[in-house]
Parts: sequence; C-alpha cells; structure tokens
Amino acid sequence: MTKKVFSAMRPTGKLHLGHLVGALHNWVDLQEKYSCIFCIADWHALMGQYDQGQEIHESIFDMAIDWIACGIDPEKSLLFVQSEVKEHLELQMFFSCLTPLGWLERNPTYKEQLREIATRDLQTYAFLGYPVLQAADILLYKANAVPIGEDQLPHIELTREISRRFNHTYQAELFADCEAILTETPRLLGLDGRKMSKSYQNTIALSDSPDDVRKKTKQMFTDPKRLRLKDPGHPDECNVFRYYNVFDPDKVDDVREWCTQAQKGCTDCKAILAESLIEELKPIQEKRAELVDDKDRVRDILAEGRKKAQAQAQETMAQVREVVFKV
Ligand code: TRP
Ligand code: SF4
Repeated sequence: MTKKVFSAMRPTGKLHLGHLVGALHNWVDLQEKYSCIFCIADWHALMGQYDQGQEIHESIFDMAIDWIACGIDPEKSLLFVQSEVKEHLELQMFFSCLTPLGWLERNPTYKEQLREIATRDLQTYAFLGYPVLQAADILLYKANAVPIGEDQLPHIELTREISRRFNHTYQAELFADCEAILTETPRLLGLDGRKMSKSYQNTIALSDSPDDVRKKTKQMFTDPKRLRLKDPGHPDECNVFRYYNVFDPDKVDDVREWCTQAQKGCTDCKAILAESLIEELKPIQEKRAELVDDKDRVRDILAEGRKKAQAQAQETMAQVREVVFKV
C-alpha cells in the first residue's frame, strides 16, 4: 500500500534544533517519496495553553515560515492550519461519542504531562480528549503513516483503536489502521543535557543569530569528568560530542582524538562546534529572511493548503455521515 503521510506540530513558539533533527529533516525526506500533509495544530496548542491564544496565533505564521525555510516544499506537500478546516472538530465529535473514558485516562502521555507540567491546570475536558482530536486529524485525511516522536506512540495506538471501534460500530470499512514512523536520529538533548525544551531555556532556536549561537554553545555542559585541560575526556559521555555527530559528522574522528588525547580544551571544542552550527543554520536563515519579506506568499501557501485539505476533509465527512446516519 502506498503511504499517505500526516503529521503536525503545535505552534507554541520558535522552532529549535531539536525540531530540525527530530522532525523536519525526516519530513523533508518523506515528501520526496510520499504524498504528505503537514498541519499546524493550533487547537492542540490551545488545549495545553488556553490562556496564551495570542502567542499561539502569532506562532502560526512563524511556524509556516520555519517549515518552508527548512525545506518543506509547498509544491510537493500540503501545509495548512488546523483551525481553518472546521471538519477536524466535527470528526472529533463523532469519535468522542464512541471513545471510552478509560482509554483516555489510561493514556501514559496524558498521565506524564499531568505530573510534569505543574505550572498549568491541565485537568480539563479538552486536554483529556487530546488524542481524540489527534485521531480525527489523521483519519480525516485517511492517512496511514504518521511520523512522530516516541512520546506520541500511545496516541497512534489510540487512533487505531478509535478507527477500529468506529468501523465496528457502524459496520463500515471506512478507516484503515495507521502506523507511526519513528525518526531514526537519536534525540538531541538541550544545552544542559536535559530534554531540549523551550521551557527549560536550553535550546538553540533556528532563528538565533551567530553571536547567540556562540554564546549558547559556550554554556553547553561537557564531560563532567574532564576538569582540567590536561585530563583526557570521554567523548561518548559528552553532549557536545553528540552534537558533532549530528551536525558535523566529518569532524567526529578529529574531535575524538583531540578530546581523548587532551590536545584541545572544551572551550575550543565548543567554539569549533558553534561555527558548524552557524553554517548549518545559514541557509535556513537566508530562506527565512526572504519569506519574512514576502508575507503574501506565505499567506497564499496556507490559503491554498486550506482549500486542498478542506476538499479532502469534506469528502471524508460525507462518508462518515453516510455510515452513521444512513443518509
Ligand atoms: N500531538 C502532537 C505533538 O504534540 C501534534 C499533533 C497533533 C499530531 N495532531 C497530530 C502529530 C496528528 C501527528 C498526527 O507533537
Ligand atoms: Fe566534550 Fe569536546 Fe570537551 Fe571532549 S573536548 S569533553 S568532546 S567538549
């Protein structure tokens, strides 16, 4: 079966290197091979941060620009804004009717977020139903391949359960099973070695200036056992070395040598890495600047995406009404 790819990101602020290697590189590869739909999931962002509507709204445009600057090609892929295609909410309602509460309450991603995000009240009706909307996103387009991070696996499992329950309830074969596509690159950690996240302030944004990149790279944590320049380091235990692996693999052998032989200090090692990162970001930032100057073009791309997405969504909704209401 040929793959139809669907994925989405929540517009909650500037994109960073973690998004680039964790998702966007993969998306850019996929669009060469398959029909792809990429959605700016503003409803999903609002579910988590319902008091930050303005920031979310403003991030939508920025996200579209970042995506295109990173190589998502609107000629090949369809990009659109979730809330502009009203059918997402309509299908969510159909699915809500048949999704047992227990499935949602047991969802490990939900339980983890309730535990971890203590700064916001996430005990809401919508947040519990987050995966139901996600299932609607995917199935509205009958997508069967969903590139995501590992933390999202339970949501894909729930999407399968919901589609099967829908088919079974209405004795229809409307929705097929979908599968996750996991990214192969190892997860890029933040500057301090924790998970890279805006809320930890340990990211390098795609839009950071060369000086910001130098400043932030300088703060990176290194091998904790290497205290002095003459101590040999352990690259495999160093986050800086992992960055080299991802962003400048040609230098990896040299880095291993200068580190284990104590030929270079960590400050120099990080300064060299900073220049590699700046080089990596340069074409993205050039493209970004072009798009910021041509907002009409970005608006047109999103309007075109909305139209095409909506046409597909309306077709699915007609079928859904047919099997549920027998009309
Ligand atoms: N929940 C996803 C995340 O936080 C974003 C998302 C929303 C999504 N709808 C989706 C991902 C549909 C894949 C498919 O990363
Ligand atoms: Fe890490 Fe480089 Fe220092 Fe080695 S020299 S510990 S790789 S920062």
